[in-house]
Amino acid sequence: MAKIILTGDRPTGRLHLGHYVGSLRRRVELQDSGEFDKIFIMIADAQALTDNFDNPGKIRDNIIEVALDYLSAGLDPEKVNIFIQSEVTELTELTFYYMNLVTLSRLERNPTVKSEIQLRNFETSIPVGFLNYPISQASDITAFKATTVPVGEDQLPMLEQAREIVRKFNATYGEVLVEPDALLPDNSVCSRLPGTDGKAKMSKSLGNCIYLSDTSEEVSKKVMSMFTDPNHLKVSDPGSLEGNTVFTYLDAFCRDEHFEKYCPDYKNLQEMKDHYQRGGLGDVKVKRLLINVLEDELAPIRARRTEYMKDIKGVYDILRKGTEEAQKAAAETLKEVKEAMKINYFEDPSLLEAWEKKYN
Ligand code: TRP
Repeated sequence: MAKIILTGDRPTGRLHLGHYVGSLRRRVELQDSGEFDKIFIMIADAQALTDNFDNPGKIRDNIIEVALDYLSAGLDPEKVNIFIQSEVTELTELTFYYMNLVTLSRLERNPTVKSEIQLRNFETSIPVGFLNYPISQASDITAFKATTVPVGEDQLPMLEQAREIVRKFNATYGEVLVEPDALLPDNSVCSRLPGTDGKAKMSKSLGNCIYLSDTSEEVSKKVMSMFTDPNHLKVSDPGSLEGNTVFTYLDAFCRDEHFEKYCPDYKNLQEMKDHYQRGGLGDVKVKRLLINVLEDELAPIRARRTEYMKDIKGVYDILRKGTEEAQKAAAETLKEVKEAMKINYFEDPSLLEAWEKKYN
């Protein structure tokens, strides 16, 4: 069976380091692994509208920002299909049929949706489209017969919902759809990079993000004001690593080579951590290392972004081409789905024949 990847992001803002370590970096590795027959990366504008329906301008603007972030992070349009969800109308059609296979109480039980409802104060009145988005996400995945869906842990309930829909569909109408597997980030630091303020997650509304498109000055400033150990007041004080954001980021980004290059007093991160915990190592030195490490990672990304920014028409063309390819693939699946559901009236000559035989 073909190995196919489908994954994507809601275009509600520029992408940040949390997206990068949690998924983008991995996608580039997967793209370069040569192990996959097809890779679809979706800009989930229709899904973003389920909780931003009153702010379409924001979604529209961020489609290009996200596309630029993808391309600058190293996704190669020769190897992956980047496309815009709402332009592939087959996805909406699939959603309509899948809605018959899912109960209201099942949707209400989805833990990710539950916490998002709380976050958005939707408790007293939930837009149907929002509650429905796990079904729409099942369409995104199954339309491409994706076998592998690289996502963060928070998306596991979506994957489970998609798998249930696949099983129900196949049992009801015949084997058409493919059950997908989630591919989680391989290390826990990367699953959930905290914000620069130490809060559990980077989030635009909390203002605690480092963006892929930040300048080096912005990155330095953000690192210098990062949350560390509030009890580590003097350099000589022993410091704690628990919840110390600077060290969490080093865990996510730093390699032994960085020490040789930027901080030869230590061979590796463990030695630096030991010193910090003993006392005698100040935050500024650790932060300087992190700035250098991030700069190593972000400089090439920034450079690619600058190039793509000069050619926005080229970026549009990449999206258009990717969307056309995605549309073709989704149309093929939809055709099979309609055939299995017996709603392919004009494509099945035997139907006409049968009626002619019956009435003539
Ligand atoms: N829900 C995902 C997010 O919040 C975006 C998304 C939409 C997605 N459809 C998908 C991810 C299908 C994986 C597969 O970022």
